[in-house]
Amino acid sequence: MSSPNYPELGGRRAIVTGAAAGIGRAIAAALARQSVKVAVCDIDYAAAKGAAEAIGGGAVAVAVDVRKRESVEAAFSGAETALGGCEILVANAGVSTMRAALDLTDEDWDHNFDVNARGVFLATQIAARRFKSRGRGVIVNTASLAAKVGAPLLAHYSASKFAVLGWTQALARELAPLGIRVNAVCPGFVRTSMQEREVIWEASLRGVSSDRVVRDYIAQTPLGRLEEPEDVADVVVFLCSDSARFMTGQGINVTGGVYMT
Ligand SMILES: NC(=O)c1ccc[n+]([C@@H]2O[C@H](COP(=O)([O-])OP(=O)(O)OC[C@H]3O[C@@H](n4cnc5c(N)ncnc54)[C@H](O)[C@@H]3O)[C@@H](O)[C@H]2O)c1
Repeated sequence: MSSPNYPELGGRRAIVTGAAAGIGRAIAAALARQSVKVAVCDIDYAAAKGAAEAIGGGAVAVAVDVRKRESVEAAFSGAETALGGCEILVANAGVSTMRAALDLTDEDWDHNFDVNARGVFLATQIAARRFKSRGRGVIVNTASLAAKVGAPLLAHYSASKFAVLGWTQALARELAPLGIRVNAVCPGFVRTSMQEREVIWEASLRGVSSDRVVRDYIAQTPLGRLEEPEDVADVVVFLCSDSARFMTGQGINVTGGVYMT
């Protein structure tokens, strides 16, 4: 599969959170293929190091816990020192748990909101403060299909991802005059370790087999297969590129047609 080519991205620097695995790792690799220097930031430093080595092209690993302001500040400083600056942030780190809404615990709610909503708030605010002084920058947040429609057994996760889209839109309006674009991608049923965990949880909660859960995901997808991390990554690279120069405040569905408006 060939990736689109955006020569203007060559030499730019990107921070990608949650980049040790899954969608974030695919985004980091796709940016590196465009000769972007990438900081692979993750709470799992050992995995981030392995990913950065595999990606190559000057990619560096940086430890970060996106829930904590000091950690995100330190990660940005470390990444900018290692890369020589930064023009692109992909705030991708996220988590999920699965439970019926009436059985949700405070811990479920806080865990999902701490990483998915607060994590995006912290990373984007810290990036935008730095981008502001330079008069340019691009931010892409990973939201979800569950940011557009309430997802059963994922009510708390959905709420945290709706928050990401609301923040993306409002931030885009405030930062547009500063030359900073802010967009989001909304993936569907993507084959990652998060999905592997969710399939097991959902099978147990619905009392069906894991195969049945996966078949149901595919049945909801007009393009007829599970989504791959690279399907998301190629759209993120486009949003980072100058080809998306007149796009801001968007939540782009990358779902194989599961959601169409
Ligand atoms: N997989 C899907 O079907 C799907 C669909 C829509 C949206 N998403 C979103 O895409 C993003 C990536 O998901 P994925 O499927 O690749 O998940 P994943 O679990 O495979 O990878 C997530 C990465 O984030 C890291 N992470 C978790 N908590 C962190 C923290 N506090 N600080 C820093 N890093 C942290 C993990 O260590 C991991 O490397 C998430 O925001 C997720 O909500 C996933």
